Amino acid sequence: MMRGIHHVGIVVRRLADAFGFYRDALGLPLLKEAVLLDQGVRAALLGAGDSELELLEPLDAGTGVGRFLARRGEGLHHLCFDTPDVEGALAALKEKQVELLDTAPRPGLAGQIAFLHPRACCGVLVELATPSPEASAHERAVASPVRLKRLVIGARDVQQTAETFQSLFGLPEVAMNSGPRVMLAVGRGALLVVPAAEVGGTEGMVALSLVAEDFQALNASFVRAGTRYLKGTGEVTVEPVSSHGVHLHISRYE
Ligand code: CO
Repeated sequence: MMRGIHHVGIVVRRLADAFGFYRDALGLPLLKEAVLLDQGVRAALLGAGDSELELLEPLDAGTGVGRFLARRGEGLHHLCFDTPDVEGALAALKEKQVELLDTAPRPGLAGQIAFLHPRACCGVLVELATPSPEASAHERAVASPVRLKRLVIGARDVQQTAETFQSLFGLPEVAMNSGPRVMLAVGRGALLVVPAAEVGGTEGMVALSLVAEDFQALNASFVRAGTRYLKGTGEVTVEPVSSHGVHLHISRYE
């Protein structure tokens, strides 16, 4: 039912500042930008391989995203799955008595969209989107030097959280041999559910893993931009102060 991660939404104070990191330093191509009055945001979609990142700047402090920014600061906000039939998916979720924020699809930046209530998905705000075929074709044709590999989710109960995502969205489990973590595949991406205790007690979305086609060029770009990051062997971790509140792990393309 879910074709992949369409995008991960990130709340930022100012789009113009966030472009300095996500578009200019990281190199993600800007695909689309618009004001969405019903969501109270100025939003931008940037290409990240098979998925996208959506940057959200609140239009004012009284909107949902404005309140999120005041309460939590900049950072990961929601996860959006690409589904071929958002209306059918909503009907199936209603049948299962899943708590929804939108009972019918509405137009959004990613196409026809709808949000589930975060209570339905272990504290993760989930959006479903059916993009127009023209938009999908156009966006897939834009090359990105960095692509989204997976989203890390912290959970008090890893099994229960994984089962919730499996039962709501039909995501298959990927076999792993590394203790109390569960990996769920979605398209060419994945969700990695880890114990909250492993990620500083955080429940919900905690980090993004990306892969870079040209790791050396990315390092050089970060140095030029003054990005703060930690260098490991074959992986860099961008400090949230540079990536607008998001823990970003970027590894070499393999
Ligand atoms: Co979104």
